[in-house]
Amino acid sequence: MLADALNVRVFASELEAASSCAALVANAVREKPSLVLGLPTGRTPLNVYRELVALYQKGRVDFSRVTTFNLDEFLGLPPDDPSSMRAYMERHLFQHVNLASERIHFLDGSAERAERECVRYDIQLASAGGLDLLLLGIGPNGHVAFIEPGESLQAASHRARLSRESRQTVASLFGDDVWKVPPAALTLGMSALLQARRVILLAFGVNKAAAVTAMVRGPITPLWPASFLQLHGNVEVWVDSEAGRGLDGSR
Ligand code: PGA
Repeated sequence: MLADALNVRVFASELEAASSCAALVANAVREKPSLVLGLPTGRTPLNVYRELVALYQKGRVDFSRVTTFNLDEFLGLPPDDPSSMRAYMERHLFQHVNLASERIHFLDGSAERAERECVRYDIQLASAGGLDLLLLGIGPNGHVAFIEPGESLQAASHRARLSRESRQTVASLFGDDVWKVPPAALTLGMSALLQARRVILLAFGVNKAAAVTAMVRGPITPLWPASFLQLHGNVEVWVDSEAGRGLDGSR
């Protein structure tokens, strides 16, 4: 029997996974107050951010020396656009905790030259020493960050054309109108994800089951970008029973 390359942990509920994840982040910050944290947006991390805000309000975590790098941003949107990933992070985390604004990092979707902006971001992340802890979600199509499925993938941060499926999953940020979702985004590349020292990937619900199975059990292929995480030595995949249902039984 082959062992899975990724450590999978099945939680009784999404909420239980979210509070364990928030506790893990808080512990990591206590152990290393200057932690460099990689952060996702989307529906998946919402409860994690809610729990982190609650822990902060109870005085159980101090973000004052923490550095953050978000994974991606829509191309063409300035940071203060209410549909931007930056605005999402402000609403759900940044406004409620004591992160120092100069240590919050984001790709600027409104930068005049996208390629130059991606290079700037990679240099900024490298100068911060890379990610200590990276939280990830996964798209139903197997994307991580906005590294979309295709015939090849790029190591460095890059401009990504968004698939129709991905645009549908973020339509809620645009009044549920998929036509208002920008056609492209800027995203960290696979190299930054693979160099993170520890990764926790969260996936909940049956619509993630195929992507989770492909990531954990499938061949490493750019058709399922998350499968590249099999090359990383320290990834935990935290799922509820629905997202993990393709993994039942041994391989
Ligand atoms: P979701 O998106 O959390 O909204 O499901 C996850 C992702 O696309 O990475």
